[in-house]
Amino acid sequence: MTERGTFITFEGGEGCGKSTQARRLAEALERNGIEVLSTREPGGTVLSEKIRGLLKDETEDPPCDRGELLLFLAARAQLVANVIAPALEAGKWVVSDRFRDSTLAYQGYGRGLPLDFLDQANDFACNSLKSDLTILLDVPPEIAAERMRAREAATGTSADRIELAGGDFHARLRRGFMELAAADSGRVTVIDASGNEDEVWERVWKSVKRFL
Ligand code: TMP
Repeated sequence: MTERGTFITFEGGEGCGKSTQARRLAEALERNGIEVLSTREPGGTVLSEKIRGLLKDETEDPPCDRGELLLFLAARAQLVANVIAPALEAGKWVVSDRFRDSTLAYQGYGRGLPLDFLDQANDFACNSLKSDLTILLDVPPEIAAERMRAREAATGTSADRIELAGGDFHARLRRGFMELAAADSGRVTVIDASGNEDEVWERVWKSVKRFL
């Protein structure tokens, strides 16, 4: 019987550098002879990428908080059923840029929806799948804001609907992610992501090596 693959997710607020680190991890695992499936949330299937567009784009009819949650969950259910679960079953490793902790942080701590309900809803959407390792990249808000400004300048894009959430939304997110990590420290590793890309990568790789 094929051994089940390992499931690693990256989490963090905007501008924490997780997409870059997720890509580097997938490349490093492949260099070590591991077959890797890389994906992202929301997204990763045709339907889930369409839902991503609905969630991120500015619109005259933005989703209400509960509708937003259900869209994220629909995208996740599709991705787990059709992509992540079959890949793990086939022995591949899966690296995902965001997964269910983002819902707890953004819709729970950020929007104020009840955490215990979100946990159950996540279980329903994911058929109870959880990551084996979640790498939480933590950066102070000033550094995150600076990185987002640099990214916008380099790509000519502007902040999306969720990135633009005002007030202390982003501070609540950071606190939320840290509380989630403290409550599940066996699964979630917090990494200081304030250094340069190579420094952060060294820390990421060290935390993954024990799974090899
Ligand atoms: P990103 O992948 O470029 O960070 O964009 C995804 C956005 O969606 C980001 O603002 C975080 C947000 N998000 C949620 O609010 N809830 C979720 O469950 C997920 C997966 C993402």
